[in-house]
Amino acid sequence: MKRRNSTRLAGVLGWPVGHSRSPRLHGHWLQHYGIDGAYVPLPVRPEDFAEAVRLLPRMGFVGANVTVPHKEAAFRLCSLRDAAAERCGAVNMLLFDGDAIEGRNTDVFGFLENLRRGAPHWRADDGPAVLIGAGGAARAVAVGLVNAGVPELRILNRTQARAEALAALVGSTARALPWSDLPRALSGAALLVNATSLGMVGQDKLGIDIAPLPNAATVADIVYAPLETDLLAAARRRGLATVDGLGMLLYQAQPAFAAWFGTKPEVTPELRRAVLEAE
Ligand code: ATR
Repeated sequence: MKRRNSTRLAGVLGWPVGHSRSPRLHGHWLQHYGIDGAYVPLPVRPEDFAEAVRLLPRMGFVGANVTVPHKEAAFRLCSLRDAAAERCGAVNMLLFDGDAIEGRNTDVFGFLENLRRGAPHWRADDGPAVLIGAGGAARAVAVGLVNAGVPELRILNRTQARAEALAALVGSTARALPWSDLPRALSGAALLVNATSLGMVGQDKLGIDIAPLPNAATVADIVYAPLETDLLAAARRRGLATVDGLGMLLYQAQPAFAAWFGTKPEVTPELRRAVLEAE
């Protein structure tokens, strides 16, 4: 393939990174919009991360996504950060301007946009939200829900100390509850979000009883393989509104693509199919 100097390059930094669907996602948009660009996986070890990031702009990269385990390291490297990155202490998208590195967090936008599209009736002030999980993904969900204006965020996690740390990070709207309080936390909640890896192919099931949730509640999962997790299937059987996790991946990519390649891309059923297709 012949590359001109004007070819815009971007990629995803992770370790490992072979599982990432981002190359397929951005590749679909590049082809669809006829843009002279490429988006590649960038497997980089943690000890090489800072050096790799410094070299990318010199190699013609306009930016990069950052995934596990580099999001906090990326945060520390940036000379400029957006508000969502500051709130999360994590960066999932880099934008290069000469030697200056700007870091943004588009996971927060991705989660909320997916929730709003998938459950258009949901309003932040409908009632308390329950968040299960307290890892990196849960942080973006918690910041998104508090920014959106939920009146109360109840955080539960296997390791309660991490739930407490997350609640302290996002502020007084949030409180950590012991796992044994789950039935009480669910009762009266307007939204339940699973932000753990449970329910994903190859992992244990989440295995919670959602009976205490009100009939008007919405249930969202950040897991997208399978698209319908056991949690979402149980919610659907009860007639609750459900939102799957694929859209969070697709919508976090939208502002990144626009910043790097200059076109705001659409999230379409065709894109969902392209991203879900088997290798
Ligand atoms: P990510 O950045 O993808 O969110 P992470 O930081 O490793 O990944 O967080 C994974 C989340 O899934 C955590 O909330 C974790 O709970 P702990 O904080 O107790 O580790 C949760 N999780 C993973 N495996 C779990 C299991 N078998 N049972 C309960 N929670 C689990």
